[in-house]
Amino acid sequence: MATTITLTGAGGQIGYALLFRIAAGDLLGPDEKVRLRLLEIPQGLKSAEGAALELQDGAFDLLEDVEVTDDAAVGFDGCNLALLVGARPRGPGMERAELLAANAGIFGPQGRAIAENAADDVRVTVVGNPANTNALIAATSAEGVPAERFTALTRLDENRARAQLALALDAPVSSIRFVPIWGNHSATQFPDVSRATVDGRPVVEALSERVGDVRTWLEDAFIPRVAKRGAEIIDIRGSSSVASAANATIEHVRDWVHGTQECTSAGVVSRGEYGVPEGLVCSFPVDFIDGNWRIVEGLEIDAWSRARIDASVAELVEERDAVRALGML
Ligand code: NAD
Ligand code: LMR
Repeated sequence: MATTITLTGAGGQIGYALLFRIAAGDLLGPDEKVRLRLLEIPQGLKSAEGAALELQDGAFDLLEDVEVTDDAAVGFDGCNLALLVGARPRGPGMERAELLAANAGIFGPQGRAIAENAADDVRVTVVGNPANTNALIAATSAEGVPAERFTALTRLDENRARAQLALALDAPVSSIRFVPIWGNHSATQFPDVSRATVDGRPVVEALSERVGDVRTWLEDAFIPRVAKRGAEIIDIRGSSSVASAANATIEHVRDWVHGTQECTSAGVVSRGEYGVPEGLVCSFPVDFIDGNWRIVEGLEIDAWSRARIDASVAELVEERDAVRALGML
């Protein structure tokens, strides 16, 4: 049986970067047939229809069917995997939270449409910003679907953190392991190097030989670079990240479906782990096992890290309260 994948914002930039990788088997592997549902708003339909024609021309062996629609009931019908990408991106000088008012209204109706139409095993990944709070809205609106089936993408932040460490240490990125992201997909996020390794050696030890005082380097260079990388891309490209976001989305969903060998990062619903208020969608270190995620528990958090996690969690609380005030939760 083919897996039905619904992509919202399929006529947009990330959509275009995702569709062909999914059809080529990068998401679910070379043996899994896929059915694609391309959900757009009326203004985006032509672009999604064009992508659908190109999908035909790709003659992908794994692609059973493509349907383009602006009707959420059709778009989520029988959906096993939902990728909620469709939302406005920010422009230069904006923070992602400024998109709340523009985008929050999308995720309530889509959560409801998922609850009414998707398959029983549906798994939802929210990419559209602000991703954590949009995931919270969608999960809250999807009555009857367990909140655990909704995640927000922070894998891009983890990839950025690993890449920056590789550059600083002049090491291959593949040698850098375990750099979880805590908190919000925003400038307050905390990329945590405390247990990271380079070729099995503690990253902090290796950094001390190259950057002088490690704490100062983390505070002044590494953390801001990773947390504000989205803005850096926007300033240089003129529009927000696309291929790297699509790549991280593929990795996130592939790991969720197939499982991880080692811990990664995802925005998932808190049940009070690490003191994060219950119900918030917060990025944690997670393991993906048998189609489920599990927060890695029992990690010791020092006071310096705790302050950073708390600041990001406080921002998530503010975002939640803002959408509550807008009547969307
Ligand atoms: P884009 O403007 O190129 O495409 C967005 C598409 O979504 C458009 O085609 C638009 O018509 C469609 N859309 C809008 N509302 C919709 C709705 N209700 N239903 C279905 N489709 C709808 O933008 P993009 O570059 O593809 O970015 C999409 C989102 O992803 C933005 O919010 C961006 O900030 C976010 N993003 C998140 C991450 C992350 O790591 N979480 C990374 C990059 C971008
Ligand atoms: C990113 O991290 O690149 C995206 O969230 C887009 C943005 O607004 O920064």
